[in-house]
Amino acid sequence: MSERLLAVITGASSGIGAAFARKLAARGYDLLLISRREERLRSLADEIAGLYHVAARPMAADLTSDADCERVAETVRGANNLGLLVNNAGFGSLGYFWATDIAGQDRMHRLHVLATLRLTHAALVNLLPKRSGGIINVSSLAAFGQTPQSVSYSATKSWMNSFTEGLALELAANDSPVKVQALCPGFTLTEFHDTLGMERGPIPRPLWMTADFVVEQSLRSFDRGKLFVVPGWRYKLLLGLIKVLPASLMRQASVAGVRRFRKRRDK
Ligand SMILES: NC(=O)c1ccc[n+]([C@@H]2O[C@H](COP(=O)([O-])OP(=O)(O)OC[C@H]3O[C@@H](n4cnc5c(N)ncnc54)[C@H](OP(=O)(O)O)[C@@H]3O)[C@@H](O)[C@H]2O)c1
Repeated sequence: MSERLLAVITGASSGIGAAFARKLAARGYDLLLISRREERLRSLADEIAGLYHVAARPMAADLTSDADCERVAETVRGANNLGLLVNNAGFGSLGYFWATDIAGQDRMHRLHVLATLRLTHAALVNLLPKRSGGIINVSSLAAFGQTPQSVSYSATKSWMNSFTEGLALELAANDSPVKVQALCPGFTLTEFHDTLGMERGPIPRPLWMTADFVVEQSLRSFDRGKLFVVPGWRYKLLLGLIKVLPASLMRQASVAGVRRFRKRRDK
C-alpha cells in the first residue's frame, strides 16, 4: 500500500481540476481523478504518473447521479490514506431562470450542492479521527452577490461558501486541525465558458487568470489555513468594494449591467 497521501479531485478532466491534479502530484499526493469523460482522465493519469511517479487512478462518475455519487462517497470514506478532497466539478448557466431548462438547474444543484455535501461528509468521517488533511470547495466570486441570468449558479456557490464557513466553525469548536477552504475565483481560462456558450471577448483581458495561478493561490492559502481564497489583486479589490458598497446599489448596478449588455447586443 502507498505511504503517500491521497487527493480526491472531482472535475479533474479539464481546467482547474486538472491543474489541481498536476500541482498536487508535484507535492507528492497520489490521486483519484473523477469526472464523466473517462478517456480524458485516463490520459491525465498516465501523464501524471509518468511525470511525478505517484499513483493516479481515473474514476468515471456523473456526480449528478445518486448511484455514482454514492460510489465515489464510499471510496472517499474508505480510503486509508485520504489527505485531501477537492470538490471542484461544476458548470455555469446562462439565461433567465424561468426561461432555462429546469433539468439543467436541477443538475447544477445536484452537482454543486448535493455532491459537495455528500463527498464532504464522507471525507470528514474519514479525516476527523486522523486529525489531518482537509477539503477545498471550488466556489466562485459569483458567490458574493447575485446577477440576472446566472441565478442558480450564484445561489449554489453562495451555499458552498456558507457551508464551508459553517464547517470551519464546527472544526474550530472541536479543536480539529482538519482544514476547509472555499476557493472563489473570478474569470479563469478553462473549458467553463465553452461549455456555457459564452464568448470570452467582451471580458477585459487583465481579468482572465490561468488555472495554474488560481490553484497555486489556493494551495498556498491552504497551507496557511485560509478559509476564503480570492485569487488575484483585481478580484480582491472588487470583493472589497462589494463588501463596503450598499447592497441595494450593487443590485441596481447588476440590473443596469444586464440592460446595457442587452441593448448593445440588440443594436
Ligand atoms: N472558469 C472560471 O471562470 C471559473 C470561475 C469561478 C469558479 N469556477 C468553478 O471552477 C470549477 C471548475 O471549473 P473549470 O473552470 O475548470 O471548468 P471546466 O474546464 O469546464 O471543468 C469542469 C469540470 O467539471 C466536470 N464535471 C461537469 N459536470 C460533471 C458531472 N455531472 N459529474 C462529474 N464531473 C463533472 C467536467 O468533467 P466531465 O465533463 O468530464 O464530467 C470538468 O472536469 C467549477 O466548479 C466552476 O464553477 C470556474
